[in-house]
Amino acid sequence: MKKRLSMLLAAALMLSLALTGCGNGRDAGTTSDAPETNSTAPVQSQAAEPTGGFEAGATIGVSLPWLGTQNWKEADEMFKTQLEAAGFNVIVQAADNKVPQQQQQIEAMIQNGAKVIVVGPIDGSQLGAVLEEAKAAGIYVIGYDRLLENTTGVDGVVQFGSIKTGELQAQALLDGLKEKKGDGPYNIELFGGGPADPNAPNFFTGAMSVLQPKIDDGTLVVVSGQTDFTQCATIDWDNSKAQARMDSLLSGFYSDKEVHGVLSPNDGIARAIITASEQAGQEIPVVSGLDAENESVEWVWSGRQYSTVAKPTDVLVGKTVEIIKSLQAGNGMPAADVSVNNGKIDVPVYELPPVVVTKDNAKEAFANDPGRLELLK
Ligand code: BGC
Repeated sequence: MKKRLSMLLAAALMLSLALTGCGNGRDAGTTSDAPETNSTAPVQSQAAEPTGGFEAGATIGVSLPWLGTQNWKEADEMFKTQLEAAGFNVIVQAADNKVPQQQQQIEAMIQNGAKVIVVGPIDGSQLGAVLEEAKAAGIYVIGYDRLLENTTGVDGVVQFGSIKTGELQAQALLDGLKEKKGDGPYNIELFGGGPADPNAPNFFTGAMSVLQPKIDDGTLVVVSGQTDFTQCATIDWDNSKAQARMDSLLSGFYSDKEVHGVLSPNDGIARAIITASEQAGQEIPVVSGLDAENESVEWVWSGRQYSTVAKPTDVLVGKTVEIIKSLQAGNGMPAADVSVNNGKIDVPVYELPPVVVTKDNAKEAFANDPGRLELLK
């Protein structure tokens, strides 16, 4: 009788350990929480089943690609502040745009016992092996701002809609041309971001869905003829490379023409394009942007840059920290907004809405951002 009772107790204990995951983080090696929907299909699924939390003061790793634009510097600061405030032990590192360095940093986070690793990849498709190793060790992996491609080692991605961002940039370019440059046709040029960053082709695709019909009907003329992403991309999001390309476009195609507008994928590249245009003696073209970097917010306010797109870092970091807290408490990954195929699995994506900013709506757009509001003077 006594023996049977203790066997029953042992069985009950094993069951409860299995249900709570024993405080060891995610069950290693499962992919079952990936939804079955296809690219960007809305996810109807419920939140993933609770899969086991971990201790409150656990180590959380954050691996950022570089600190070359303001959004990544903000993320570096905000992850430290918000995760420490939540009681975690935090390792935040940036990898200077060097893939092997980022692989090593993630490897060290695994060795240091991280329970969650947040990754903004330099190259979306070059981290497959190390992320799968993290997964095999029972660590949760969350993509931050950029998709993690070609790997099963990802539990979800938090980002602003990247196709939507491109659409907003292109629509702002069209609006700006109409407002600032009279009737068309308009001479324009196109720039893309770093080709290794999965956001960059998406921004471009979103933008071209708006611009291509206007190119086809003759409203827009891409004078250089360079309309493929590969021709327009800017290796490593390097502003000086963008400026050099703009210099050569201007000297090669615009010695007797005005450039009316330029599609730019972010603010740093926008300022490089504007600077090159001023130096070539052009009237300032209408230029789009992204990130609401302080310097560009001032340029938008003074009329030197037409638009930017705000994707507030505090909101993105806040959403990521909320997911980490859910994991810690044993509640698993919250329900996602859409699902995106990364080449290997359908990844749950938490998608936030970017907001276009021009001089007209800057005060409203930054109503809750005292730092940027302060720049509108
Ligand atoms: C981010 C942008 C940033 C760019 C270059 C992109 O993935 O979404 O905010 O400007 O990388 O750092």
